[in-house]
Amino acid sequence: MSSEVNQNRLPSISCQLTVADLLLSWFDLHARDLPWRKSVPHPISSVFLNRLKEFIGDKVCRDRLTLRRDPYTVVVSELMLQQTQVSAVIPYYERFMECLPTVEVLALADEMEVLKLWEGLGYYRRARSLSALAKHVVENYKGMIPPNKKVLLSLPGIGPYTAGAILSFAYDLPEPAVDGNVVRIFSRLDAQPHVRGDVKASRFVRDRVQELMPDERAGDFNESLMDVGATICTPSSPACAHCPLKSRCQAYALDAVDQFPLRKDSEEKPIDQFSYVLLHRDDLVYVQRRQKGLLEGLFEFYSLAHHFGLEEEASICKSLHREFTVERCDSLLSENERVMSVHFVGERKAVYSHRMWEVSCWEVELISRSDMFLQIDAEAVGDWVTLEELSELPFPTVLVPWRDAFVARHR
Ligand code: ADE
Repeated sequence: MSSEVNQNRLPSISCQLTVADLLLSWFDLHARDLPWRKSVPHPISSVFLNRLKEFIGDKVCRDRLTLRRDPYTVVVSELMLQQTQVSAVIPYYERFMECLPTVEVLALADEMEVLKLWEGLGYYRRARSLSALAKHVVENYKGMIPPNKKVLLSLPGIGPYTAGAILSFAYDLPEPAVDGNVVRIFSRLDAQPHVRGDVKASRFVRDRVQELMPDERAGDFNESLMDVGATICTPSSPACAHCPLKSRCQAYALDAVDQFPLRKDSEEKPIDQFSYVLLHRDDLVYVQRRQKGLLEGLFEFYSLAHHFGLEEEASICKSLHREFTVERCDSLLSENERVMSVHFVGERKAVYSHRMWEVSCWEVELISRSDMFLQIDAEAVGDWVTLEELSELPFPTVLVPWRDAFVARHR
């Protein structure tokens, strides 16, 4: 990194505008038009405001409480936006709000319905948290999402970032909402070697944002940081020429923007290799529900711990026979005695936060006279479902194309 400061890039000393002034003027012209920003709160009645004030945090001056945006829309959009691109979230958000427009409606919905609306968006724990949050808020807070940081942090799925987003976007309260984009902006602005994803860096930046937070327009201030991070101060090829903070940016003055923030020593993700078996018979398909951990609560096909590739039909047959009909193994391999037909469907990869999957899928039809399915019924935790039921169940994204193609072929 060059330590020479480029004089042309230094801020002008006479400049009186604050960082907040620069961001807010820029935001007035360039704010992104996003569906969750359209939600205009209903005019707040004094009854509603008084009910809200029952839950207000100590730091808040009661007379100053306003509603900038419907808090429910903020909760839904912010949970969807965690680790997910804006463009991917938009159609999900719109469909979700159409089906479950209020926290009360969401509280009445079955978790499965919420998971189905989330199917394909990933990180399904967020959907389950949202469902639990709605039930909790309706039971304990009269359906209010309270303007109180301590209470918000006690709700499922809400961490410091999301609590800050709710307080500032919905109630215009001066609370930082620091995510990776904001850490990147401040790492560059202050030429601080923050490490991506580091908790210490987040805390440091939260204090910086708090210092710079204007008394008015806290929500716009936080959203302007979000938009600068998404559209200008991007991880690679940032558009510094268009940045409202260019004149204050230390990394820009050092001509070293690309060196901030520091990259985390990349950890290799472990790879799980295994096979799915789309078992079906008489228009019924075998599914099981994932228990604790990754993709908890979603449905999947029967699985085998070994990865069987295209060339391994004989091996997968042997493995299936071994699992279900050990004594009949020999005869099952002969053509005349076939009790199942086996076809390779394909291979797919999936990348999750802490692991990767490399999976193959095989379609296995059990012929009616097979006693294999009796064995499966006896041993397994899943169930046989109809094609209609199969389409209704939430599946991990990696399985959706195989499920949908199967349903299309067998309808
Ligand atoms: N990313 C996280 N929250 C966001 C928001 N409210 N608007 C745009 N991008 C975001």
